[in-house]
Amino acid sequence: MKNIAVIGTGYVGLVSGAGISDYGHNVVCTDIDISKIKRLQNGEITIYEPGLEELVNRNVQSNRLSFSSNVNKCIQRADVIFIAVGTPEGDNGSSDLSAVFDVARAIGNNLNGYKIICTKSTVPIGTGAKITEIIKETSNELNEFAYVSNPEFLREGSAVKDFLWPDRVIIGASCARAFDTMKNVYRPLFINETPVIETTIETAELIKYASNAFLSVKISYINEIANICDEIGADVHVVSKAMGIDGRISSKFLHPGPGFGGSCFPKDTKALISMAEEMGVNLKVVKSAVEANQLQKERMVKKLFNLFDGNVKNKTIAILGLAFKAQTDDVRESPAIDIIDALQSNGAIIKAFDPAANDNMKKLYNDLDTYVSWEEAVKDVDGVVIMTEWNEFRGMDLSKLKGLVKSPNILDCRNILKIDDLEKLGFKYDNVGRKKR
Ligand code: UDX
Repeated sequence: MKNIAVIGTGYVGLVSGAGISDYGHNVVCTDIDISKIKRLQNGEITIYEPGLEELVNRNVQSNRLSFSSNVNKCIQRADVIFIAVGTPEGDNGSSDLSAVFDVARAIGNNLNGYKIICTKSTVPIGTGAKITEIIKETSNELNEFAYVSNPEFLREGSAVKDFLWPDRVIIGASCARAFDTMKNVYRPLFINETPVIETTIETAELIKYASNAFLSVKISYINEIANICDEIGADVHVVSKAMGIDGRISSKFLHPGPGFGGSCFPKDTKALISMAEEMGVNLKVVKSAVEANQLQKERMVKKLFNLFDGNVKNKTIAILGLAFKAQTDDVRESPAIDIIDALQSNGAIIKAFDPAANDNMKKLYNDLDTYVSWEEAVKDVDGVVIMTEWNEFRGMDLSKLKGLVKSPNILDCRNILKIDDLEKLGFKYDNVGRKKR
C-alpha cells in the first residue's frame, strides 16, 4: 500500500484519486481551492459523474480516501504524487501550463525524501523534462525523485468505469524504480491482465495526444461521410456499421453527430497542431478534422434554419441537450452553444432543457430559459432540436411530443429517433445523414 497525494480535484484528479484509493492505497486529494475541499470533506461531490459518489463514499468510509487543502503537507507525506491540475487552452492553441508549474514548484519546496512525481494532466511533449527541471531547481539536491508520465483516458460520463477498467495503462518513466512503483499503484489491474505500456516520458506524453487526435479525425471523417449520405439519400448508420465490422477500422467512434466538443478533443487537437508546427511538422489531417468539426457545428445550424425555410425570427425552438454530450454537465465547446448563438442573433425564442447541464449553460447565458423536463421545454414550440443522446430523449414518446408542440418540426443531431415513426406522425424532420429521399 502506498501513500498517495493527488493535486487537483477536477474531473481527472477526483476520479483518479477515488479510483486509486479503490485499488487499496491511502489517498489524499488536495487542491488550492479551499471551498472545493470543504465541500468534498462534507461529503458533497463537486462534479457530475455517474458512479463517482458511490466510489468516493465507499473509500472515505474505509479510511483510504480523504481531502485536504494543505497541499504542502500532502506532498511531504506522500510516496507518489499525482499532478492532476487543469491545463486550459492558452495562446495560439497551446496549453497554459502555469498551474502545472506552480505545483512543480510546490513539490520541489516540500520534497523531503524519495518520491515519484507523476503527471496525469494532459501536457505537451517535453513538459515532463520542464517539471523535472523546476523540481530540481526548487528542492534540496539531497532529495531524490523520479518523474513519470501517466496520461488519463477518462471519458466524462463513464470516467469511473474507464478508470477502474481501462483499456490500457501508459507509464512513461526513465528508471526501474519508477516503473516498479507505478506497477504497484496499478497492481489490481495486472490481475485482469490490463495491457500496461512501459515507455519513455516523451512517448507517453505523445500517446495521449495521438489517441485523442485520432478519435477526433475519426469523428470528423464519419460526419463528412454523413454529409454525403444527406446528398444521396444513403443511411450513414448502415455505412458505419459495415465499416466498423472491418477489424482494421473498428465500430467505435463512428457515430455521426453535431461535431465533437468537451474539454479534451477541441483543446488537444489544437495543442498537437501547435506543438507540431513548432517542430516544423505540418499536421494536415488533424487540421482538417478541426476545420471539418467547425463546419459540422455550422451545418447543424443551417439544418435547423432549413426546417423553417431559413427564417427563425419569432419562432420558439426547444433545445434538448446543452452539454457537449449525454451523461455530463460539461458545456465546454458544446455544439449547443453554436445553436443558441445563431438562434439568439436571428430573433428566435429558446426553451432549453438538459438533464444535468441547465445550470452550467445558464452561467454562459443568464437570460436562457431552462426547463425541468423535455415535456415542459417542448410545450407549444415551433420546433425541437435534439443535441445530445440522453436515454430520456431516445425513449421519447413521439405521439406525446407531437401532442405537446405547436408545429411538428424536429432536427435530430444524434440520430436517436425512429424515422418511420417521425414520418408516420407527419413530422418535418432532419438528422445527420439518414434522411429518406
Ligand atoms: C475524450 C476521450 O475519449 C478520453 O479518452 C480523453 O481522455 C478525454 O476526451 P470525452 O471528451 O469525455 O473523452 O468524451 P467522448 O465520449 O470521447 O466524446 C468526445 C466528443 O466526441 C463528444 O462531443 C461526443 O459527442 C463526440 N463523439 C464521440 C461523436 O460525435 N461520435 C462518436 O462516435 C463518439
